[in-house]
Amino acid sequence: MSGPRPAYDLEAWRRRIPLLASCIPMNNCSQAPQTDATRAAAERYLDSWNRSGMDWDAWMAEVALAKAEFATLIGAALSDIAVFSSVSEATSAVASALDVGGARRRIVVSEAEFPAVAHVWLAQERRGARVSWAPVRDGQIDPAAYDALVDERTALVSACHGYYLNGFIQDTARIAARARAAGALSFVDAYQTLGAVPVNVRELGVDFLAAGTLKFLMGTPGIAFLYVRPEIVDSLHPTATGWFGRADPFAFDARTLDWSPTASRFDAGTPPVINAYVARAGMEMINAVGPANIRSWHLALSRRLIDGGRSRGLVLHGPDDVSRKTVSTAFVVPESHAVEAAMRARGVLPSARGEVIRLAPHFYSTIGDVERALDVLSEVTRPR
Ligand SMILES: Cc1ncc(COP(=O)(O)O)c(C=O)c1O
Repeated sequence: MSGPRPAYDLEAWRRRIPLLASCIPMNNCSQAPQTDATRAAAERYLDSWNRSGMDWDAWMAEVALAKAEFATLIGAALSDIAVFSSVSEATSAVASALDVGGARRRIVVSEAEFPAVAHVWLAQERRGARVSWAPVRDGQIDPAAYDALVDERTALVSACHGYYLNGFIQDTARIAARARAAGALSFVDAYQTLGAVPVNVRELGVDFLAAGTLKFLMGTPGIAFLYVRPEIVDSLHPTATGWFGRADPFAFDARTLDWSPTASRFDAGTPPVINAYVARAGMEMINAVGPANIRSWHLALSRRLIDGGRSRGLVLHGPDDVSRKTVSTAFVVPESHAVEAAMRARGVLPSARGEVIRLAPHFYSTIGDVERALDVLSEVTRPR
């Protein structure tokens, strides 16, 4: 085959994704396809449950392994990671650790946040917080917008890494540095970038980073992870808590509220055990292919999506510079959900959001998949 190729054996990875035999998944910004590894992981939990009836030690060990795999992915340590069922919950736990009733009441939030995250910050207004917004213009945010908003009254700055609507990538290192200079904390939702863009939390300098696994990390709904910068852990006491946030969850001492010395103080109830099995398997695959290799291939796919969309007369939403976006590429369409259904009927799985249809291939996708998806999109949106 001529033309660009990824740095890994694309065909070998494709053989591990049964769905590719029947359709073209372009919805990784929404839900990853199943792989042989994620299926086997779910079955391992079912087997253990059936065989042992209950094996808490093994299940807790799996949760720790999933945390460790997430830590590897973002350049952190296992002790920097807490586990939740969703990014909304992780954000609420962070919010519950903030003091927003005093001199630092402001929470600066990007208009590109997924509503789950923005709503948690808005809910803090009931506790005295004041939310101010970094505005989206033309599907992007000017990084300078944060400079004017962040000051000595700011408690925290919340900036998604990748915009769920069109893949626009924010310069979170710059935003985190601005927050730090003002004495504020920084929170990054990396749900749309992990698995698609290499991330190193130490290089970004962020205080918190949250993500789930069902998008580019090849997992399922029902689990999310939170990184907490180890230097600030001691100063934080989340009031959204539970027995897994304790120094020893199995001490069973109802009268003593101690805090785990690690990011585990953000853990709350019984962790999502079965989801942890699947999450680890998905992240292991991403770590094995390599986020940097994936990003290189995504840049080629992204270029083809933008150029191919333009040559077919499709209207792009957001940046056309591939270095400033994830592989997720949005086109403005009338009635996006009807377009999604029409494309599905033709064997291509896109993802509709508001006024756009998103095409989000992944490491296993071919240039041929992208061309076919664009052909089908232009066919179903062509005026009759
Ligand atoms: C950027 C981003 N954050 C968060 C979420 C969802 O968060 P939760 O795990 O709370 O459902 C999504 C889901 O689409 C998302 O794209």
